[in-house]
Amino acid sequence: MQVVQGKHLVTPDGEVLDELRSRAARVIVDVGTGDARTAYRLAKAQPEWLVVGIDPAWQRMSPTSVRASRKPAKGGAPNLLLVNSAIETVPAELHGIADEVSVLMPWGKLLRGVVHGDGDVCAGLRAVARPGASLDITVGTSIWRDPVPLEIRELPELTPEYVDTVLAGRLAGYGWQVTGAEVISGAEMDRMSSSWARRLGSGNPEVVIHVRATAVTPAEVAAGSPG
Ligand SMILES: C[S@@+](CC[C@H](N)C(=O)[O-])C[C@H]1O[C@@H](n2cnc3c(N)ncnc32)[C@H](O)[C@@H]1O
Repeated sequence: MQVVQGKHLVTPDGEVLDELRSRAARVIVDVGTGDARTAYRLAKAQPEWLVVGIDPAWQRMSPTSVRASRKPAKGGAPNLLLVNSAIETVPAELHGIADEVSVLMPWGKLLRGVVHGDGDVCAGLRAVARPGASLDITVGTSIWRDPVPLEIRELPELTPEYVDTVLAGRLAGYGWQVTGAEVISGAEMDRMSSSWARRLGSGNPEVVIHVRATAVTPAEVAAGSPG
């Protein structure tokens, strides 16, 4: 596993992750974390949680890693781990680690993977989750308004109807049971109490679609419900 440490990539030994994990009351995995600022803010707000940011464009996480490596009183966040990886090839050390998985404003392969319900992306998301973990996928709907970027012209628009009729079935095949899909405006975020909504914040002017799912086992998929 390659972890961002300031301006470098390092390969920590297994004990580092075991230690972080054993101290954490909850583990959040933010997939496609970008510059990792959202993950950093969450790690600072919840010092008893372990927040893992994953992104294959590791240099963008570097400034946040520099900040997080300071002493906690000076802005450091020892409970933030930034991992250089695409979700399709997520390192085995992270398998089964997450109580919450979040995908916030994805693009590229991650966006296409969650909208199409592609096997490599959905299985990677499921691989990091514990049974019962939540998945929150948030996509800004403006990408489907003119001018639609060339690379997503063929991508179906993520709507609650599309989730019900197409995506939920595909996600179920990879161990995710969809529990809801709703379109939300930034102003409505305040009324929602979830930690996910707090992360997104009402300052966000975008209308987003939020898809929620729960990690289920093959036996639960066969029975049609978790638990
Ligand atoms: C628009 S940025 C969003 C960053 C962050 N979540 C936020 O809301 O500020 C989308 C990120 O998805 C990442 N990404 C694209 N494909 C990915 C994949 N297959 N696995 C993990 N991350 C991916 C990109 O590298 C990029 O940093």
